[in-house]
Amino acid sequence: MVTGAGAGIGRAVALAYARQGATVTVADIDDAAGGRTVAQIEAAGGAADYVHANVSSSADCDALVAAVVARHGRLDIACNNAGVAPPTTPLAEVTDEQWRRVTAVDLDGVFFCARAEIRAMAAAGGGVIINIASTLGQVAFPGLTPYTAAKHGVVGITKQIALEYAAAGIRAIAVGPAFIRTGLENGIDPAARAHLDELHPIGRMGEPEEVGDLVALLSGPATTFVNGAYLPVDGGYLTR
Ligand SMILES: NC(=O)c1ccc[n+]([C@@H]2O[C@H](COP(=O)([O-])OP(=O)(O)OC[C@H]3O[C@@H](n4cnc5c(N)ncnc54)[C@H](O)[C@@H]3O)[C@@H](O)[C@H]2O)c1
Repeated sequence: MVTGAGAGIGRAVALAYARQGATVTVADIDDAAGGRTVAQIEAAGGAADYVHANVSSSADCDALVAAVVARHGRLDIACNNAGVAPPTTPLAEVTDEQWRRVTAVDLDGVFFCARAEIRAMAAAGGGVIINIASTLGQVAFPGLTPYTAAKHGVVGITKQIALEYAAAGIRAIAVGPAFIRTGLENGIDPAARAHLDELHPIGRMGEPEEVGDLVALLSGPATTFVNGAYLPVDGGYLTR
């Protein structure tokens, strides 16, 4: 299952999983977008279904995982991807509402989903959890305090899962994209967007598929000894 799979990175992850032969449950709050991802997977010969789930609701996350288990018997792989970015605002100007909106999705959402996923996976003998963090799970960026705090928290949750549930056959990995060309980077001040390419030593922002393909690889049998890691997919962003 992939949360926030109606667009951007989540859609690319869902498509990559389907190409590897997985039956994919697409979850989103945007039913039309989720439906489009399912249609894309089916058009390519894959298998997918859709569940409406707002990850900032623990009840929705529990119901999402329950739906996967009810429909497919078990949950093998989960990618907790759904996220939102705030408008750039200096820390002292961040409103309570901005803080809560971002942390509710980007931090609470990962915790609520992971908790439900672990319960289902542990009961079935194990699984893989990929949490989509960010470069801002490792470093800061001007004006993005709620996001940076949430993404550092996602890296922490990932380590906790790895430590506490390895014995249950569950491994967890945080994936850290730098700036990726999706809808979300539009929230960044347009004047700053021209400089975003230059932040990456590779000379450009990333494409969603470059994250999706990595997530699919990390979810499979090639990486069974990787657990609790933060994996950058950032064109070298964190080298400076
Ligand atoms: N785009 C980037 O530059 C970038 C960089 C680093 C990390 N990320 C992370 O990657 C993830 C995906 O980002 P994206 O750029 O693909 O975003 P996007 O805006 O392109 O797509 C996000 C999807 O999540 C869904 N969504 C939003 N809130 C939701 C909620 N509460 N519950 C369920 N679904 C919800 C949206 O409807 C949408 O389909 C996020 O966690 C983001 O923080 C993005």
